[in-house]
Amino acid sequence: MPALRSQPTLALLTLLAACASPPPAPDSPNPVPDDPHSQSRPNETRVTHLALDLSADFASQSLTGTAQLSLQRLVPGAPLVLDTAPSISVLSVHAADGSPRPFLLAPADPILGSALTIPLEPQDQSVSVRYSVRSDARAVQWLAPEQTASRRGPFLFTQGQAILTRSWIPLQDSPGVRITWEATIRQNDHPELAAVMSAQSRSSTAPGITQFAMPHPVPSYLIALAIGALERRELSPRCAVWAEPGLVELAAQEFEDVERMVSTCESLYGPYRWGRYDVLVLPPSFPFGGMENPCLTFATPTILAGDKSLVALIAHELAHSWSGNLVTNATWRDFWLNEGFTVYVEQRIVEAIFGAERARAETQNGITQLESELASLPEGDQRLHLELSGRDPDDAMTAVAYDKGAAFLRRLELAFGRARFDRFVRAWFDEHAFRSLTTEQFLAFLQTRLLDSDRSAAAAIDVADWVHGKGLPADCPRPRSELLEASDAARERFVAGASAASLAAGAWSTPQWLRFLNSLPAALDRARLVELDEVYGLTRSGNSELLAAWLERNLAAGYLGLPPALDARLGGFLREVGRRKFVKPLFAALAKTPEGLVRAKAIYAEARQRYHAVTRGTIDQLLGWSAGG
Ligand code: BES
Ligand code: ZN
Repeated sequence: MPALRSQPTLALLTLLAACASPPPAPDSPNPVPDDPHSQSRPNETRVTHLALDLSADFASQSLTGTAQLSLQRLVPGAPLVLDTAPSISVLSVHAADGSPRPFLLAPADPILGSALTIPLEPQDQSVSVRYSVRSDARAVQWLAPEQTASRRGPFLFTQGQAILTRSWIPLQDSPGVRITWEATIRQNDHPELAAVMSAQSRSSTAPGITQFAMPHPVPSYLIALAIGALERRELSPRCAVWAEPGLVELAAQEFEDVERMVSTCESLYGPYRWGRYDVLVLPPSFPFGGMENPCLTFATPTILAGDKSLVALIAHELAHSWSGNLVTNATWRDFWLNEGFTVYVEQRIVEAIFGAERARAETQNGITQLESELASLPEGDQRLHLELSGRDPDDAMTAVAYDKGAAFLRRLELAFGRARFDRFVRAWFDEHAFRSLTTEQFLAFLQTRLLDSDRSAAAAIDVADWVHGKGLPADCPRPRSELLEASDAARERFVAGASAASLAAGAWSTPQWLRFLNSLPAALDRARLVELDEVYGLTRSGNSELLAAWLERNLAAGYLGLPPALDARLGGFLREVGRRKFVKPLFAALAKTPEGLVRAKAIYAEARQRYHAVTRGTIDQLLGWSAGG
């Protein structure tokens, strides 16, 4: 791969060699904490603004253009160091006056990618990197028309979190580095498609050319792009939904409470600071449930259940507009600061809009899920504050950050009272807006602003154990939901022999069904599952959460003997949906028996090319898949 493109002069080599030794302590007002997942050196030369100009070519599935980076020179003489991945080819680097600058691309680390080092002249306040992005960039998925819902045209989307943005933009890819940005996106061969980004403003000067701007400083993982046959429906003056033509009406109905969610969150935690809050419904290969890209949440179409039963996911992504996008984890070790706070805020929104009972049910299911995950996690990964050096930050994506993080905050709320705790959380967001913080900084703020205010309340909580200890502390608050208790009672009766019909489960809510299905004993006779299906039509369910839990439950007793209708639904679901949370447990359940593994490999051989790189990476590993299949 390209190494040094311009001829290395002796001076350049000497300069690069000098860069290898640690520089003098930077004289920066806001030093960026050390991030094991970035090779960039933001405390020497920091990127402050990005101006992107990219052309998307669907025929060749490539992006080409320039990233112009504005710089803050903190250590005189230090080079600019950026993160990139092997999918990026750097074509040239220029200074503001158009004169070329040399650059050095280091060999790629399998997790971190390649450091791109650009020695600077004393006068350089910006550089322009001309580059192209191959179709295999891990952040980017290019879809053929057949892989979309409407089949009206090809589709492209990016997913930056955690460290994938470097696969399509050369930048300092650490959440501790915040930049403002603007972009021009050109669609050479498909000017009829709409381009959308995680930006505050969007405008178009000509067909196939769209301009975007994000005036607030954001971490790199929140820069996102999608291009496709998209329509838009307004939900309120500041909220809209974007989706493919066949889905936009359904999505608008499903998301009709979004404006109320935004105003609820504002009344709890202060003004929404990002202007618009729109939701983009992606094709079914989107690897996550949702992604909190600023101003434009990216969401899986699998939450369109038709009855709003899965919209807590939107509450979650919206909550990130405070916890995560406004106040961000400085490194991925501090991921719980993003997700733990977000689950807590999500539950507050659900409580305000759908009632305390539904909030309790979702919390209780979260704790059950957490406890089952804790049972199989190594001790180091049971802590809120993680050690991730040398590991893929994806490994931090467990229920610990989410549900143990939220439980810790609920514990604090319980000890200090809601009114005081709400003021504390609001101050955390207000006083650190548009900054990226570490767990240590949170703990210091917690000490002075909450714990010190009431020593006797504080004495009851072992904060160090919550943050650095394993397992779930005994004082974890455990809200109990009457609805879930009804499911538990029904499960006991069913397991003891009561008929499926006698459960009268026809009107159960989604959390009730999930509770029931996830707690059935693995050894249950297959005939009992068939009986459940005959009464409640679970195999036909259009609710993806319910269907996924149902399929998983049916595979718990092995693949042999799976009823043909279920087997067909399983195959169809795995070929259509690429959401990792659903497909991973299903492939894992199949892989447990030899017959199931054969079936899993046959399905995956077809499904793999439709999955995003994130899901593909997980399933490749699970099935021991190698390039040739
Ligand atoms: N930011 C996450 C998704 C994510 C985390 C992507 C880490 C890449 C790395 C998002 O907010 C999220 O948590 N989504 C969840 C849904 C939520 C309701 C728990 C998901 O996608 O399942
Ligand atoms: Zn989240």
